[in-house]
Amino acid sequence: MSDIQKAARIIQNGGLVAFPTETVYGLGADALNPYAVAAIFEAKNRPQFDPLIVHVADRRQAETLVSHFPGKALRLVEKFWPGPLTVVLPKSSLVPDIVTSSLPNVAIRMPNPPLAMELIRESKRPIAAPSANLFGQVSPTTEEHVRKSLGDKVDFILDGGPCEVGVESTIISFAEKEPVLLRPGGLSLEEIESIIGKVSVSMGSSDQPTAPGQMERHYSLRTPLRLIQAQAVPISHVKTGWLGLQNPPSGFDVVEVLSQKGDLKEAAANLFAAMRRLDEKNLDLILAQPVPDQGLGRAINDRLTRASRSAD
Ligand code: TXA
Ligand code: MG
Repeated sequence: MSDIQKAARIIQNGGLVAFPTETVYGLGADALNPYAVAAIFEAKNRPQFDPLIVHVADRRQAETLVSHFPGKALRLVEKFWPGPLTVVLPKSSLVPDIVTSSLPNVAIRMPNPPLAMELIRESKRPIAAPSANLFGQVSPTTEEHVRKSLGDKVDFILDGGPCEVGVESTIISFAEKEPVLLRPGGLSLEEIESIIGKVSVSMGSSDQPTAPGQMERHYSLRTPLRLIQAQAVPISHVKTGWLGLQNPPSGFDVVEVLSQKGDLKEAAANLFAAMRRLDEKNLDLILAQPVPDQGLGRAINDRLTRASRSAD
């Protein structure tokens, strides 16, 4: 039996399979089996008010999960699926309440890598999957990241190497009349707006999340991480790490450069692994420099901001 067949059998039997997508690794279960989905929440320590994204292998499968597919959403998925785009749509009765935390809408996306596609096809089920990390931690972009944080809690891990995009999917909600950006991610807002026009931005705070899961305390590290706006100066008496697009001024104990040539795509792909490496160096402080707020830079800045807030 191939790894895919083994993994698909586990999904069909209500088990948990971690699998690679182009964004981050997902922790998957049969989206139509409420008990299997409950096991995801348990393995991650995830609060039940934070709903899951359902992964599909084709448009027809997506259509069974929704009661209505608005025109703008259709145009987006025609253009960008498979890819790092999640759309939130009114759900059909097929979707168990536990998947959507009882919301009337469901988040759906079609991942690109063949391993992910084959897993969904071979399972013959849509697969509910959050990022395969413990709740609140940095999302995994390699099989090793998954093994380290969830190893004994998953039934199988499919290894597809490092994720190409490296930050989670962009989430656009069609729950209201006009489309709303709920999470900047691996597909840029510019590309989305080039297809459907202006999209309003609604990024909640921990006090008032406009969508569940927009909690600020996310992507937390053990080491405090601070955003710096101006020229960075390492603090001499503490062990300080640097996280930035390019080289820092001298004096940092550990340096992580996201993209020597200043390329935001490359930076996004490196971000989470760099955060984890810095966190393992026993530093007192990580100074992170925001990147230009355009293209994938929006997603990078969003993750850095959340990581810095969790240090408060
Ligand atoms: O790239 C990704 O999206 C990865 C891979 C595995 O597909 N998944 C991922 O899942 O990042 P997760 O669970 O870590 O983040 C999903 C986000 C959460 O913030 C959740 O609140 C939001 O999507 N979400 C899910 N269903 C929703 C819904 N019905 N309405 C609003 N937000 C929703
Ligand atoms: Mg997550």
